[in-house]
Amino acid sequence: MENKIKEVVEEARRLLKDARTTQQLEELRVRFIGRKGRITALFKELGKLDKEKRPVVGKLLNEAKTTLESELEKALKERKRAESRREKIDVTLPGRKPFVGTLHPITKIAREICSIFQRLGFDIVEGPEVELDYYNFEALNIPREHPARDMQDTFYITDNVVLRTHTSPIQVRVMEQRKPPLRIIAPGKTYRRDSDLTHTPMFHQVEGLMVGEKVSFGDLKGILTIFVHQMFGEDVGLRFRPSFFPFTEPSAEVDIQCVICRGEGCRVCSHTGWLEILGSGMVDPEVFKMVGYDPDSITGFAFGMGIERIAMLKLGINDLRLFFDNDLRFLRQF
Ligand code: PHE
Repeated sequence: MENKIKEVVEEARRLLKDARTTQQLEELRVRFIGRKGRITALFKELGKLDKEKRPVVGKLLNEAKTTLESELEKALKERKRAESRREKIDVTLPGRKPFVGTLHPITKIAREICSIFQRLGFDIVEGPEVELDYYNFEALNIPREHPARDMQDTFYITDNVVLRTHTSPIQVRVMEQRKPPLRIIAPGKTYRRDSDLTHTPMFHQVEGLMVGEKVSFGDLKGILTIFVHQMFGEDVGLRFRPSFFPFTEPSAEVDIQCVICRGEGCRVCSHTGWLEILGSGMVDPEVFKMVGYDPDSITGFAFGMGIERIAMLKLGINDLRLFFDNDLRFLRQF
């Protein structure tokens, strides 16, 4: 009898393990501890036993019944919990979109600028940020006494090595390595010892250079006009204003009509209607001599622009610091 009880309990446990649904569990309950169940049947056999054996086996049977009852109960609860969990998944709800990063606005604008010039036949090149004094100044016709060389404006690594203060040294490096004609566009980081509301010690520039046998100021105007129209819109006017750079002659700064007031005059353009966006000019013969080009047969133009400035005008951002704070609420908008 004791063995019989054990066998029944073991069989019940085996079946319990395989039961998948609440209905199967309910069936097991009926089969083992229901009114016509296996355990109940064993209770009925108690009467056939010897008098002194009855209480011992009766106790065993009672124990078997309560264990099976509680194990069934537990399995049933687990099933029900799992089923209700499944019911809570509403497949008609819209999915949650995973956030994949975005390009930094400076990167985006730099790429946009470069791709406009690429379509005009310019190659993208790069140069070192830690630069020799020779390329940053000397070869660009910037003499020793020039204020740009002041310790106040330039980060010096050693007497001969600086953090480039503009992307113009790339012009020299390219001309040393390639023969004319050439058309290059060079984006990159630049450094100056400046830090206030409108200046950061590191900023970005894009340099452009076109050199050949009959490259004229007219080409400079044409190319930069196409650039402004593609970058800011066909209806945005521009003007070339005489200026000075040691490495270009003649030189011009380019202004565009204020993108905020469209030339009416507002705070952004200091009520002039115009915004300066870049420096440019015809490559100075002195620079050609330094790189071994013949200034009598070769001409060219160069220009340089600040990417942060273009980005602010293009994206309508009024605070330079936003580019460097890395605030995701700002960056996620692009
Ligand atoms: N390098 C000049 C600057 O940083 C810009 C420039 C580039 C001007 C090329 C003329 C030609 O201000």
